[in-house]
Amino acid sequence: MLSCFVTRHTKNTIPIKIISQTEYPNWLAKQTNFVKQWLSTNQFRGEPGNVSLIPDTTGKLQSVLFCDAELKNYWCIGNLPLTLPEGVYELDINTIDYQRLAITWGLGSYQFSRYKKPTRKPAQLFIPNDASPDYVNNIVESIYFVRDLINTPADDMGPSELADVVVDLGKTFKAKVKQIVGDELLKQNYPMIYAVGRACDDEPRLIDLRWGNKKNPQVTLVGKGVCFDTGGLDIKPSSAMLLMKKDMGGAAHVLGLARMIMQAELAINLRVLIPVVENSVSGNAYRPGDILQSRKGTTVEIGNTDAEGRLVLADALTEAVSEKPNLLIDISTLTGAARVALGTDLPALFANQDDIAHDAVRFGTLESDPMWRLPLYSPYRELLNSPFADINNVGMDSYGGAIIAGLFLKEFVPDEIPWMHFDLMAWNLKSRPGRPQGGEAMVLRALFSYLIERFEK
Ligand code: BES
Ligand code: ZN
Ligand code: ZN
Repeated sequence: MLSCFVTRHTKNTIPIKIISQTEYPNWLAKQTNFVKQWLSTNQFRGEPGNVSLIPDTTGKLQSVLFCDAELKNYWCIGNLPLTLPEGVYELDINTIDYQRLAITWGLGSYQFSRYKKPTRKPAQLFIPNDASPDYVNNIVESIYFVRDLINTPADDMGPSELADVVVDLGKTFKAKVKQIVGDELLKQNYPMIYAVGRACDDEPRLIDLRWGNKKNPQVTLVGKGVCFDTGGLDIKPSSAMLLMKKDMGGAAHVLGLARMIMQAELAINLRVLIPVVENSVSGNAYRPGDILQSRKGTTVEIGNTDAEGRLVLADALTEAVSEKPNLLIDISTLTGAARVALGTDLPALFANQDDIAHDAVRFGTLESDPMWRLPLYSPYRELLNSPFADINNVGMDSYGGAIIAGLFLKEFVPDEIPWMHFDLMAWNLKSRPGRPQGGEAMVLRALFSYLIERFEK
Protein backbone atom coordinates (compact mmCIF):
# COMPACT_ATOMS: atom_id res chain seq x y z
CA MET A 1 0.00 0.00 0.00
CA LEU A 2 1.25 3.49 -0.81
CA SER A 3 2.38 5.55 2.16
CA CYS A 4 -0.50 8.01 1.68
CA PHE A 5 -3.05 5.30 2.55
CA VAL A 6 -3.82 3.25 5.64
CA THR A 7 -6.39 0.51 6.03
CA ARG A 8 -6.54 0.46 9.83
CA HIS A 9 -8.74 2.81 11.73
CA THR A 10 -7.53 4.05 15.13
CA LYS A 11 -8.83 6.45 17.73
CA ASN A 12 -6.33 9.00 16.44
CA THR A 13 -7.89 9.11 12.99
CA ILE A 14 -8.95 12.70 12.32
CA PRO A 15 -12.23 13.25 10.48
CA ILE A 16 -12.39 15.63 7.52
CA LYS A 17 -15.85 17.07 7.22
CA ILE A 18 -16.53 17.90 3.60
CA ILE A 19 -19.39 20.28 3.21
CA SER A 20 -21.00 22.16 0.34
CA GLN A 21 -21.23 25.91 0.28
CA THR A 22 -25.03 25.74 0.46
CA GLU A 23 -25.06 23.32 3.40
CA TYR A 24 -22.60 25.38 5.40
CA PRO A 25 -24.93 27.87 7.16
CA ASN A 26 -27.19 25.05 8.43
CA TRP A 27 -24.25 22.99 9.55
CA LEU A 28 -22.70 25.95 11.34
CA ALA A 29 -25.91 26.66 13.24
CA LYS A 30 -25.66 23.19 14.84
CA GLN A 31 -22.08 23.57 16.08
CA THR A 32 -20.88 24.32 19.60
CA ASN A 33 -20.07 27.88 20.56
CA PHE A 34 -16.40 26.94 20.60
CA VAL A 35 -16.47 25.79 16.95
CA LYS A 36 -18.53 28.79 15.88
CA GLN A 37 -16.08 31.12 17.57
CA TRP A 38 -13.07 29.31 16.12
CA LEU A 39 -14.39 29.54 12.58
CA SER A 40 -15.32 33.17 13.03
CA THR A 41 -11.87 34.02 14.49
CA ASN A 42 -10.28 32.34 11.47
CA GLN A 43 -12.64 34.16 9.13
CA PHE A 44 -13.83 30.88 7.65
CA ARG A 45 -16.46 31.88 5.12
CA GLY A 46 -17.60 28.51 3.84
CA GLU A 47 -16.40 29.27 0.35
CA PRO A 48 -15.21 26.58 -2.09
CA GLY A 49 -11.68 25.45 -1.24
CA ASN A 50 -11.77 26.87 2.33
CA VAL A 51 -10.06 24.63 4.90
CA SER A 52 -10.04 24.98 8.66
CA LEU A 53 -8.15 22.91 11.22
CA ILE A 54 -10.41 22.71 14.24
CA PRO A 55 -8.71 21.97 17.58
CA ASP A 56 -10.21 20.56 20.74
CA THR A 57 -10.08 22.68 23.87
CA THR A 58 -6.52 21.42 24.62
CA GLY A 59 -5.27 22.65 21.23
CA LYS A 60 -5.01 19.20 19.67
CA LEU A 61 -6.26 18.79 16.10
CA GLN A 62 -9.75 17.39 16.40
CA SER A 63 -11.22 17.66 12.94
CA VAL A 64 -10.80 19.34 9.58
CA LEU A 65 -13.50 21.29 7.82
CA PHE A 66 -13.31 21.49 4.05
CA CYS A 67 -15.75 23.37 1.89
CA ASP A 68 -16.49 22.76 -1.78
CA ALA A 69 -19.07 24.32 -4.09
CA GLU A 70 -21.43 21.42 -4.74
CA LEU A 71 -19.49 18.32 -3.75
CA LYS A 72 -19.41 17.14 -7.35
CA ASN A 73 -15.83 17.98 -8.13
CA TYR A 74 -13.63 14.91 -8.29
CA TRP A 75 -10.49 16.95 -7.65
CA CYS A 76 -11.71 19.12 -4.77
CA ILE A 77 -9.59 17.60 -1.97
CA GLY A 78 -6.50 17.18 -4.15
CA ASN A 79 -4.41 19.72 -2.24
CA LEU A 80 -5.09 18.31 1.23
CA PRO A 81 -2.49 15.48 1.39
CA LEU A 82 0.41 17.89 1.03
CA THR A 83 -1.05 20.78 3.04
CA LEU A 84 -2.67 19.15 6.09
CA PRO A 85 -0.38 18.31 9.02
CA GLU A 86 1.04 14.79 8.91
CA GLY A 87 -1.34 12.31 10.49
CA VAL A 88 -4.12 9.89 9.62
CA TYR A 89 -7.43 11.25 8.37
CA GLU A 90 -10.76 9.88 7.27
CA LEU A 91 -13.46 11.45 5.17
CA ASP A 92 -16.75 12.29 6.79
CA ILE A 93 -18.93 12.37 3.70
CA ASN A 94 -22.22 11.09 2.48
CA THR A 95 -22.81 12.71 -0.88
CA ILE A 96 -19.86 11.74 -3.03
CA ASP A 97 -18.28 8.38 -2.82
CA TYR A 98 -15.28 7.63 -0.69
CA GLN A 99 -13.47 5.58 -3.30
CA ARG A 100 -13.32 8.38 -5.84
CA LEU A 101 -12.03 10.88 -3.30
CA ALA A 102 -9.48 8.37 -2.05
CA ILE A 103 -8.10 8.19 -5.60
CA THR A 104 -7.89 11.99 -5.65
CA TRP A 105 -6.10 11.86 -2.31
CA GLY A 106 -3.57 9.43 -3.75
CA LEU A 107 -3.04 11.45 -6.90
CA GLY A 108 -2.60 14.60 -4.82
CA SER A 109 0.06 12.90 -2.67
CA TYR A 110 2.41 12.39 -5.61
CA GLN A 111 5.89 13.88 -5.55
CA PHE A 112 8.55 13.12 -8.14
CA SER A 113 11.49 12.32 -5.93
CA ARG A 114 14.13 10.91 -8.29
CA TYR A 115 16.22 14.10 -8.41
CA LYS A 116 14.92 16.14 -5.50
CA LYS A 117 14.02 15.24 -1.94
CA PRO A 118 10.26 15.36 -1.32
CA THR A 119 9.32 18.46 0.63
CA ARG A 120 7.37 16.45 3.22
CA LYS A 121 5.44 13.25 3.81
CA PRO A 122 1.84 13.22 2.64
CA ALA A 123 -0.92 13.18 5.20
CA GLN A 124 -2.48 9.71 5.25
CA LEU A 125 -6.00 8.71 4.41
CA PHE A 126 -7.82 5.80 5.97
CA ILE A 127 -9.61 3.75 3.31
CA PRO A 128 -12.44 1.57 4.65
CA ASN A 129 -12.87 -1.91 3.20
CA ASP A 130 -16.06 -1.04 1.38
CA ALA A 131 -14.12 1.57 -0.63
CA SER A 132 -11.84 -1.25 -1.97
CA PRO A 133 -8.39 -0.11 -0.85
CA ASP A 134 -6.70 -2.53 -3.28
CA TYR A 135 -8.55 -1.08 -6.25
CA VAL A 136 -7.73 2.48 -5.20
CA ASN A 137 -4.10 1.63 -4.57
CA ASN A 138 -3.80 -0.12 -7.94
CA ILE A 139 -5.06 2.90 -9.82
CA VAL A 140 -2.97 5.40 -7.91
CA GLU A 141 0.21 3.33 -7.99
CA SER A 142 -0.18 2.75 -11.73
CA ILE A 143 -0.65 6.47 -12.34
CA TYR A 144 2.46 7.23 -10.25
CA PHE A 145 4.28 4.77 -12.49
CA VAL A 146 3.09 6.65 -15.59
CA ARG A 147 4.04 10.03 -14.12
CA ASP A 148 7.48 8.84 -13.03
CA LEU A 149 8.24 7.45 -16.48
CA ILE A 150 7.23 10.68 -18.21
CA ASN A 151 8.98 12.95 -15.72
CA THR A 152 12.29 11.11 -16.03
CA PRO A 153 14.47 12.96 -18.54
CA ALA A 154 15.52 11.26 -21.76
CA ASP A 155 19.11 10.89 -20.57
CA ASP A 156 17.86 8.49 -17.90
CA MET A 157 14.88 7.16 -19.85
CA GLY A 158 16.23 6.41 -23.31
CA PRO A 159 15.23 3.35 -25.36
CA SER A 160 17.31 0.87 -23.35
CA GLU A 161 16.14 2.23 -19.98
CA LEU A 162 12.50 2.20 -21.06
CA ALA A 163 12.99 -1.40 -22.20
CA ASP A 164 14.46 -2.26 -18.78
CA VAL A 165 11.34 -0.86 -17.16
CA VAL A 166 9.14 -3.16 -19.25
CA VAL A 167 11.33 -6.17 -18.46
CA ASP A 168 10.99 -5.37 -14.74
CA LEU A 169 7.24 -4.94 -15.06
CA GLY A 170 7.09 -8.29 -16.83
CA LYS A 171 8.98 -9.94 -13.97
CA THR A 172 6.66 -8.42 -11.36
CA PHE A 173 3.53 -9.71 -13.05
CA LYS A 174 4.90 -12.86 -14.67
CA ALA A 175 4.37 -11.50 -18.16
CA LYS A 176 6.49 -12.49 -21.15
CA VAL A 177 8.59 -9.69 -22.62
CA LYS A 178 10.35 -9.91 -25.98
CA GLN A 179 12.43 -7.27 -27.69
CA ILE A 180 13.54 -6.77 -31.25
CA VAL A 181 16.54 -4.45 -31.17
CA GLY A 182 18.55 -2.46 -33.76
CA ASP A 183 19.42 -4.24 -37.06
CA GLU A 184 17.18 -7.09 -36.04
CA LEU A 185 14.26 -4.73 -36.72
CA LEU A 186 15.25 -4.74 -40.40
CA LYS A 187 15.59 -8.52 -40.49
CA GLN A 188 12.18 -8.96 -38.89
CA ASN A 189 10.60 -6.32 -41.13
CA TYR A 190 10.03 -3.28 -38.95
CA PRO A 191 11.62 -0.84 -41.38
CA MET A 192 9.96 2.36 -40.19
CA ILE A 193 10.78 1.80 -36.51
CA TYR A 194 14.36 1.25 -37.58
CA ALA A 195 14.50 4.30 -39.89
CA VAL A 196 13.15 6.70 -37.29
CA GLY A 197 15.42 5.41 -34.53
CA ARG A 198 18.66 4.68 -36.40
CA ALA A 199 20.24 8.09 -35.76
CA CYS A 200 20.45 7.46 -32.02
CA ASP A 201 23.27 5.52 -30.32
CA ASP A 202 20.71 3.91 -28.06
CA GLU A 203 19.21 1.56 -30.61
CA PRO A 204 15.55 1.53 -31.64
CA ARG A 205 13.48 -1.45 -30.60
CA LEU A 206 10.05 -3.00 -30.48
CA ILE A 207 8.98 -4.25 -27.09
CA ASP A 208 6.32 -6.94 -26.96
CA LEU A 209 4.73 -7.87 -23.62
CA ARG A 210 2.19 -10.66 -23.28
CA TRP A 211 0.16 -11.59 -20.23
CA GLY A 212 -2.92 -13.60 -19.35
CA ASN A 213 -4.78 -16.62 -20.52
CA LYS A 214 -4.73 -17.04 -24.31
CA LYS A 215 -8.35 -18.20 -24.19
CA ASN A 216 -9.56 -14.82 -22.95
CA PRO A 217 -10.50 -12.02 -25.37
CA GLN A 218 -7.38 -10.36 -26.72
CA VAL A 219 -6.79 -6.69 -25.96
CA THR A 220 -3.75 -5.17 -27.62
CA LEU A 221 -2.28 -1.87 -26.46
CA VAL A 222 0.16 0.09 -28.60
CA GLY A 223 2.05 3.10 -27.22
CA LYS A 224 4.24 5.71 -28.87
CA GLY A 225 7.64 5.37 -27.25
CA VAL A 226 9.66 8.27 -28.62
CA CYS A 227 12.03 8.81 -25.71
CA PHE A 228 12.99 12.19 -27.09
CA ASP A 229 11.67 14.01 -30.12
CA THR A 230 14.11 16.57 -31.52
CA GLY A 231 12.02 16.62 -34.70
CA GLY A 232 14.91 14.94 -36.52
CA LEU A 233 16.41 16.85 -39.46
CA ASP A 234 13.19 18.92 -39.50
CA ILE A 235 14.40 20.02 -36.12
CA LYS A 236 12.02 21.63 -33.64
CA PRO A 237 12.60 25.16 -32.35
CA SER A 238 13.80 25.19 -28.74
CA SER A 239 10.44 26.14 -27.26
CA ALA A 240 8.76 23.17 -28.97
CA MET A 241 11.57 20.76 -28.05
CA LEU A 242 11.69 21.65 -24.38
CA LEU A 243 9.05 19.17 -23.23
CA MET A 244 9.85 16.40 -25.68
CA LYS A 245 11.06 13.96 -23.02
CA LYS A 246 7.33 13.36 -22.68
CA ASP A 247 7.06 11.95 -26.20
CA MET A 248 7.12 8.44 -24.72
CA GLY A 249 3.95 9.40 -22.85
CA GLY A 250 1.88 6.98 -24.93
CA ALA A 251 4.22 4.13 -23.98
CA ALA A 252 4.00 5.16 -20.33
CA HIS A 253 0.21 5.17 -20.61
CA VAL A 254 -0.13 1.70 -22.09
CA LEU A 255 2.30 0.36 -19.49
CA GLY A 256 0.25 2.01 -16.74
CA LEU A 257 -2.96 0.53 -18.11
CA ALA A 258 -1.29 -2.88 -18.47
CA ARG A 259 -0.18 -2.63 -14.86
CA MET A 260 -3.76 -1.92 -13.73
CA ILE A 261 -5.05 -4.86 -15.78
CA MET A 262 -2.41 -7.30 -14.51
CA GLN A 263 -2.68 -6.20 -10.88
CA ALA A 264 -6.47 -6.61 -11.01
CA GLU A 265 -6.10 -9.88 -12.96
CA LEU A 266 -8.74 -8.98 -15.51
CA ALA A 267 -9.87 -11.82 -17.77
CA ILE A 268 -7.96 -10.49 -20.75
CA ASN A 269 -5.36 -11.93 -23.07
CA LEU A 270 -3.15 -8.85 -23.01
CA ARG A 271 -0.54 -7.80 -25.54
CA VAL A 272 1.41 -4.56 -25.31
CA LEU A 273 3.48 -3.39 -28.26
CA ILE A 274 5.78 -0.43 -27.83
CA PRO A 275 7.96 0.92 -30.62
CA VAL A 276 10.79 2.65 -28.77
CA VAL A 277 13.09 5.14 -30.48
CA GLU A 278 14.75 8.47 -30.07
CA ASN A 279 14.10 10.84 -32.98
CA SER A 280 17.61 12.25 -33.20
CA VAL A 281 19.71 14.44 -35.49
CA SER A 282 22.78 12.78 -36.98
CA GLY A 283 24.52 12.08 -40.30
CA ASN A 284 22.60 8.85 -40.68
CA ALA A 285 19.21 10.27 -39.74
CA TYR A 286 16.27 9.61 -42.06
CA ARG A 287 15.55 12.60 -44.27
CA PRO A 288 12.69 14.62 -45.67
CA GLY A 289 11.93 13.18 -49.10
CA ASP A 290 13.08 9.67 -48.21
CA ILE A 291 10.63 6.95 -49.12
CA LEU A 292 10.29 4.18 -46.55
CA GLN A 293 8.71 0.82 -47.00
CA SER A 294 6.47 -0.03 -44.08
CA ARG A 295 5.99 -3.43 -42.46
CA LYS A 296 2.65 -3.61 -44.27
CA GLY A 297 4.36 -3.00 -47.61
CA THR A 298 2.92 0.49 -48.11
CA THR A 299 5.52 3.01 -49.27
CA VAL A 300 5.66 6.20 -47.22
CA GLU A 301 7.19 9.45 -48.40
CA ILE A 302 8.64 11.51 -45.57
CA GLY A 303 7.17 15.00 -45.81
CA ASN A 304 8.46 15.84 -42.34
CA THR A 305 10.80 13.93 -40.06
CA ASP A 306 8.98 15.43 -37.07
CA ALA A 307 5.89 13.35 -37.87
CA GLU A 308 7.79 10.30 -36.61
CA GLY A 309 5.24 8.91 -34.15
CA ARG A 310 2.81 7.75 -36.83
CA LEU A 311 5.65 5.93 -38.62
CA VAL A 312 6.73 3.84 -35.66
CA LEU A 313 3.12 3.26 -34.63
CA ALA A 314 2.22 2.10 -38.15
CA ASP A 315 4.70 -0.79 -38.02
CA ALA A 316 3.58 -1.72 -34.50
CA LEU A 317 -0.11 -1.56 -35.49
CA THR A 318 0.56 -3.79 -38.50
CA GLU A 319 1.97 -6.40 -36.14
CA ALA A 320 -0.87 -5.88 -33.65
CA VAL A 321 -3.64 -6.46 -36.20
CA SER A 322 -2.02 -9.64 -37.51
CA GLU A 323 -3.50 -11.44 -34.48
CA LYS A 324 -6.98 -9.89 -34.95
CA PRO A 325 -7.39 -8.66 -31.37
CA ASN A 326 -10.90 -8.17 -29.97
CA LEU A 327 -9.91 -4.62 -29.09
CA LEU A 328 -6.98 -2.49 -30.20
CA ILE A 329 -6.05 0.71 -28.37
CA ASP A 330 -3.15 2.99 -29.21
CA ILE A 331 -2.10 5.93 -27.08
CA SER A 332 0.31 8.62 -28.17
CA THR A 333 1.48 12.19 -27.90
CA LEU A 334 0.99 12.32 -31.64
CA THR A 335 0.23 15.88 -32.72
CA GLY A 336 0.39 19.46 -31.54
CA ALA A 337 -2.77 19.91 -33.62
CA ALA A 338 -4.83 17.81 -31.20
CA ARG A 339 -3.82 20.28 -28.48
CA VAL A 340 -4.74 23.24 -30.65
CA ALA A 341 -8.16 21.66 -31.23
CA LEU A 342 -8.96 20.54 -27.68
CA GLY A 343 -6.43 22.17 -25.36
CA THR A 344 -4.09 20.38 -22.99
CA ASP A 345 -6.56 18.56 -20.73
CA LEU A 346 -8.87 16.97 -23.24
CA PRO A 347 -7.41 13.98 -25.07
CA ALA A 348 -8.66 13.34 -28.59
CA LEU A 349 -10.24 9.96 -29.25
CA PHE A 350 -10.56 8.51 -32.73
CA ALA A 351 -12.35 5.22 -33.30
CA ASN A 352 -13.37 3.15 -36.28
CA GLN A 353 -16.54 1.89 -34.53
CA ASP A 354 -19.16 4.05 -32.82
CA ASP A 355 -20.10 1.73 -29.95
CA ILE A 356 -16.63 1.54 -28.44
CA ALA A 357 -16.17 5.30 -28.82
CA HIS A 358 -19.47 6.00 -27.07
CA ASP A 359 -18.57 3.63 -24.23
CA ALA A 360 -15.14 5.18 -23.77
CA VAL A 361 -16.57 8.70 -23.70
CA ARG A 362 -19.27 7.61 -21.23
CA PHE A 363 -16.71 6.14 -18.85
CA GLY A 364 -14.61 9.26 -19.26
CA THR A 365 -17.50 11.36 -18.01
CA LEU A 366 -18.31 8.93 -15.19
CA GLU A 367 -14.72 8.87 -13.96
CA SER A 368 -14.01 12.60 -14.42
CA ASP A 369 -11.34 11.48 -16.87
CA PRO A 370 -12.68 13.19 -19.98
CA MET A 371 -11.93 12.75 -23.66
CA TRP A 372 -13.48 14.12 -26.82
CA ARG A 373 -14.10 12.22 -30.02
CA LEU A 374 -12.78 13.65 -33.28
CA PRO A 375 -13.74 12.17 -36.66
CA LEU A 376 -11.70 9.97 -38.95
CA TYR A 377 -13.04 12.15 -41.76
CA SER A 378 -12.21 10.18 -44.90
CA PRO A 379 -12.46 13.05 -47.43
CA TYR A 380 -9.26 14.40 -45.85
CA ARG A 381 -7.41 11.21 -46.79
CA GLU A 382 -6.45 12.73 -50.15
CA LEU A 383 -4.36 15.33 -48.32
CA LEU A 384 -1.93 12.50 -47.59
CA ASN A 385 -1.50 11.61 -51.26
CA SER A 386 2.07 11.52 -52.52
CA PRO A 387 3.18 11.73 -56.16
CA PHE A 388 5.98 9.24 -55.48
CA ALA A 389 4.72 6.84 -52.84
CA ASP A 390 1.50 5.25 -51.56
CA ILE A 391 1.16 7.87 -48.85
CA ASN A 392 2.96 10.88 -47.35
CA ASN A 393 3.49 11.04 -43.60
CA VAL A 394 2.11 14.60 -43.39
CA GLY A 395 -0.81 16.45 -44.95
CA MET A 396 -0.49 18.96 -47.77
CA ASP A 397 -1.64 21.82 -45.59
CA SER A 398 -1.47 22.48 -41.88
CA TYR A 399 -5.19 22.19 -41.11
CA GLY A 400 -6.83 19.32 -39.25
CA GLY A 401 -3.49 17.82 -38.29
CA ALA A 402 -4.83 15.49 -35.58
CA ILE A 403 -7.40 14.04 -37.99
CA ILE A 404 -4.78 13.65 -40.71
CA ALA A 405 -2.52 11.76 -38.29
CA GLY A 406 -5.48 9.54 -37.32
CA LEU A 407 -6.19 8.85 -40.99
CA PHE A 408 -2.56 7.93 -41.54
CA LEU A 409 -2.76 5.32 -38.75
CA LYS A 410 -6.11 4.09 -40.09
CA GLU A 411 -4.32 2.89 -43.24
CA PHE A 412 -2.70 0.22 -41.09
CA VAL A 413 -5.81 -1.00 -39.23
CA PRO A 414 -8.42 -3.09 -41.07
CA ASP A 415 -11.97 -1.81 -40.55
CA GLU A 416 -13.17 -5.00 -38.87
CA ILE A 417 -10.78 -4.64 -35.93
CA PRO A 418 -12.32 -2.47 -33.19
CA TRP A 419 -9.75 0.29 -32.74
CA MET A 420 -9.39 3.38 -30.58
CA HIS A 421 -6.63 5.90 -31.05
CA PHE A 422 -5.84 8.49 -28.35
CA ASP A 423 -3.83 11.61 -29.09
CA LEU A 424 -3.04 13.26 -25.77
CA MET A 425 -0.79 15.68 -23.89
CA ALA A 426 0.47 13.44 -21.06
CA TRP A 427 1.54 16.55 -19.18
CA ASN A 428 0.17 19.18 -16.80
CA LEU A 429 1.58 22.60 -17.67
CA LYS A 430 0.70 23.87 -14.19
CA SER A 431 -0.21 22.32 -10.85
CA ARG A 432 -3.84 21.99 -9.83
CA PRO A 433 -5.37 20.01 -6.96
CA GLY A 434 -4.52 16.32 -7.53
CA ARG A 435 -2.69 17.11 -10.74
CA PRO A 436 0.86 18.31 -10.14
CA GLN A 437 2.87 20.00 -12.87
CA GLY A 438 4.61 17.41 -15.06
CA GLY A 439 3.81 14.02 -16.53
CA GLU A 440 0.18 13.00 -16.26
CA ALA A 441 -1.94 9.94 -17.00
CA MET A 442 -5.03 10.78 -19.00
CA VAL A 443 -7.97 8.52 -19.97
CA LEU A 444 -6.54 5.59 -17.98
CA ARG A 445 -9.13 5.59 -15.21
CA ALA A 446 -11.82 5.75 -17.89
CA LEU A 447 -10.31 2.92 -19.94
CA PHE A 448 -9.72 0.73 -16.90
CA SER A 449 -13.38 1.08 -15.82
CA TYR A 450 -14.48 0.35 -19.36
CA LEU A 451 -12.33 -2.79 -19.50
CA ILE A 452 -13.60 -3.95 -16.11
CA GLU A 453 -17.20 -3.56 -17.23
CA ARG A 454 -16.57 -5.26 -20.54
CA PHE A 455 -14.34 -8.12 -19.47
CA GLU A 456 -15.09 -8.78 -15.80
CA LYS A 457 -18.88 -9.14 -15.82
N1 BES B 1 5.61 14.69 -30.54
C1 BES B 1 5.07 15.59 -31.49
C2 BES B 1 3.66 16.04 -31.18
C3 BES B 1 3.44 16.90 -29.98
C4 BES B 1 3.91 18.20 -29.94
C5 BES B 1 2.67 16.43 -28.96
C6 BES B 1 3.62 18.99 -28.85
C7 BES B 1 2.37 17.21 -27.88
C8 BES B 1 2.86 18.50 -27.81
C9 BES B 1 5.01 14.93 -32.87
O1 BES B 1 5.97 13.99 -33.14
C10 BES B 1 5.17 16.06 -33.84
O2 BES B 1 6.16 16.69 -33.79
N2 BES B 1 4.16 16.27 -34.65
C11 BES B 1 4.17 17.33 -35.58
C12 BES B 1 3.52 16.82 -36.86
C13 BES B 1 3.70 17.75 -38.03
C14 BES B 1 5.14 17.75 -38.48
C15 BES B 1 2.80 17.28 -39.14
C16 BES B 1 3.35 18.47 -35.01
O3 BES B 1 2.35 18.23 -34.35
O4 BES B 1 3.74 19.63 -35.20
ZN1 ZN C 1 7.79 14.82 -33.91
ZN1 ZN D 1 6.78 12.98 -31.51
